[in-house]
Amino acid sequence: MVPLAQILTVAALAGSGAAVPISQIGTINGTTLHQVRNPSYVFNGAVSIYKPYLKFDVPIPADLQAAVDRTGLLTKTYKRSEGVAVATPIDSINDAYTIPVSIGSPPQVLQLDFDTGSSDLTSKLMSGYTWDISYGDGSSSRGNIYADTVVIGGVTVTSQAIECAETVSSSFTSDSAVDGLVGLGFDSLNTASPKAVATFFDNAASSLDAPLFTADLKHDAPGSYDFGFINSSLYTGSITYVPVDTNPGYWTWTSSGYAVGTAAFSSTSISGIADTGTTLLYLPAAIIKAYYAKVSGSSNSNTYGGYVFSCSATLPTFTFGVGSSRITIPGNYLNYAPVETGSSTCFGGLQDSSDIGINIFGDVALKSAFVVFNGASSPTLGWASKILD
Ligand SMILES: *[C@@H]1O[C@H](CO)[C@@H](O)[C@H](O)[C@H]1NC(C)=O
Ligand SMILES: *[C@@H]1O[C@H](CO)[C@@H](O)[C@H](O)[C@H]1NC(C)=O
Repeated sequence: MVPLAQILTVAALAGSGAAVPISQIGTINGTTLHQVRNPSYVFNGAVSIYKPYLKFDVPIPADLQAAVDRTGLLTKTYKRSEGVAVATPIDSINDAYTIPVSIGSPPQVLQLDFDTGSSDLTSKLMSGYTWDISYGDGSSSRGNIYADTVVIGGVTVTSQAIECAETVSSSFTSDSAVDGLVGLGFDSLNTASPKAVATFFDNAASSLDAPLFTADLKHDAPGSYDFGFINSSLYTGSITYVPVDTNPGYWTWTSSGYAVGTAAFSSTSISGIADTGTTLLYLPAAIIKAYYAKVSGSSNSNTYGGYVFSCSATLPTFTFGVGSSRITIPGNYLNYAPVETGSSTCFGGLQDSSDIGINIFGDVALKSAFVVFNGASSPTLGWASKILD
C-alpha cells in the first residue's frame, strides 16, 4: 500500500492500497583452529558450490538447492529456519489476501494483510511510542506500539513491535476481513516515532536459512508466502533477478517493457514498485491507452475513476518484461470487478498511474508470477512464471 502522500487520486473502487544478511555460519571467535582431516568428510560437488551462495547472500538456484537437499549432508549444519504462511483472498475479487498471524501469549490469531509497500506491523487489536499512517486508499490509523511475540507460518520473532490501533479511520475498520497489516517494505518507511522500529522480516531475517521471502499469490485461491527458502515446485523455468532501489523504502525495480496480447514486445524502461498491498496494476498512460485500444467498448470513465468496459468483453493478455524474461497476465485477471454490484460494466485491473505518480505492480501482476523478495545486503527481486489456474 502506498501512503496517501504519494496518491492524489485513486479509483474509489480499487482497494489500492528488508533485510539483514545471513548470520555468519561457524564463526570462530578469535581462536585459531588447526586444520585436521575429518575422517567422516564426504566430498560433494553440489555442497561445495552451495557454500559461497550462503556466504555472499546470493539466492540459491533451485536445481542446486535440490541437489544439496538430495545429499542430506547439509541439513544439520546449515538448516536454520523456514516458514510457510497461507495467503487467502478476502473476497471473490481478490481485493486483498490475509495471512493468519499469531500475536502474544496466549496467542491470539489475527488475519493480517502482508504489505510490501509499507513497513509497519499494524493491528486493530487492543507506550511511549506512537505512530500515525495514512494509506493510499484514504484509510488511516494511529496508536501505541507494543512489543510481543509474533509467529507467522512457523517463523517466530520474540520482540516484534506491533502498532495497535486506538484510532482508526472508518474505511480501515469497515474492512472487517483484515485485522491489520504486516509491512514488508524497507525500514525507512516505518512511521514509528520517536524512532523507527524493525519490520517482522528484518527481525526474522538473521534466523532464516536465506534472508528472503517469496510470494505465490493466486487468483481466487489460497496461495502462500514462504520465508527463508525458495520452493522450486512453485514456478516454471528459471527465476530472473533484477536490482532493487530501496529508496524511499519500497521494492522499486525496472521492467524492460511490455506487450499487449500477441502484439510485438515494446522495449521501454518502466520503473515501479512490487506492492503486495495494492490490488491492481498501475502503469503509465501511454501503456494503458495501448492496452485499452484492444478492448472494444472500453472507456476512461470519470464517474468510476478509471478504465471500464463491458463485463462480457474478452480481454487481451498483458505481458511485462523482467530483463529478457516475460511475465504474462491472463486477460481474465485484468477484469477486476463490476463497477457496482450487479452492473454489467466492469472496472479494469490495469489502470493509469499518472495521478498516483508511481507505477505499482500490485496483486494483479504479482499473482501472475512467483516473486522472490530477496533482502540480501543488495536487495533484488526475482520473477518467474508459474502454472496459472
Ligand atoms: C566470543 O568470546 C567472548 C569473550 O570470550 C564470549 O563472551 C562470547 O560468548 C564468544 N562468542 C561466541 C559466539 O562463542
Ligand atoms: C513446495 O510446494 C509444493 C507445491 O505447492 C508443496 O506441496 C510443498 O509442500 C512445498 N514445500 C515446502 C517445503 O513448503
